[in-house]
Amino acid sequence: MQIRRFNNADAAETSAMITETLRISNVKDYTPELMEECAKSLSPEKLTERAGWMHFYVVEDGGSIIGCGGIGPYWGKEDESSLFTIFVKPTEQGRGIGRSIIETLERDEFFLRAKRVEIPSSKTAVNFYKRFGYDHKKGFEEPDDEGIYRLEKFR
Ligand SMILES: CC(C)(COP(=O)(O)OP(=O)(O)OC[C@H]1O[C@@H](n2cnc3c(N)ncnc32)[C@H](O)[C@@H]1OP(=O)(O)O)[C@@H](O)C(=O)NCCC(=O)NCCS
Repeated sequence: MQIRRFNNADAAETSAMITETLRISNVKDYTPELMEECAKSLSPEKLTERAGWMHFYVVEDGGSIIGCGGIGPYWGKEDESSLFTIFVKPTEQGRGIGRSIIETLERDEFFLRAKRVEIPSSKTAVNFYKRFGYDHKKGFEEPDDEGIYRLEKFR
């Protein structure tokens, strides 16, 4: 298994892995309709566009992409960053891959230069992120209108 930076040639396979994860894992917490909308917003084209402004990584194992995650500036700020698009293929969850993704992102320059790091988290992943020291932004524990929880960590 290796974690490396995303190339545009990875876009279709990464998007398909995300769509599978949304349909199998996240659908336990959200409606199938919302998950299809979310999958559209993470199409191959959208991932390529995202990789233009964030540092986006993929986890590759035996020639297949089984995970991904990115870090970028929080609304263009230099001292605040955000983690985005962290997914592990359902059949590979629970093996420490999510932890490896977080550790990789927390070694990235966008993490190291930030005083505060935010995560727009799915309900599915809130307790996962809490294990790494992220907690509800300003103590506010409710999700927004799209069911996203705002988490943050100070450095
Ligand atoms: C959340 C996700 C990325 C975790 O990846 P993973 O590879 O299964 O996580 P790991 O195996 O590395 O787990 C690391 C630690 O977190 C714990 N953990 C994992 N998922 C957890 C959860 N949902 N709730 C609480 N703890 C969790 C593990 O038990 C492990 O603890 P340990 O180190 O003490 O043994 C993965 O389940 C996933 O892709 N979920 C669906 C997509 C999603 O919601 N992504 C986030 C979008 S914001």
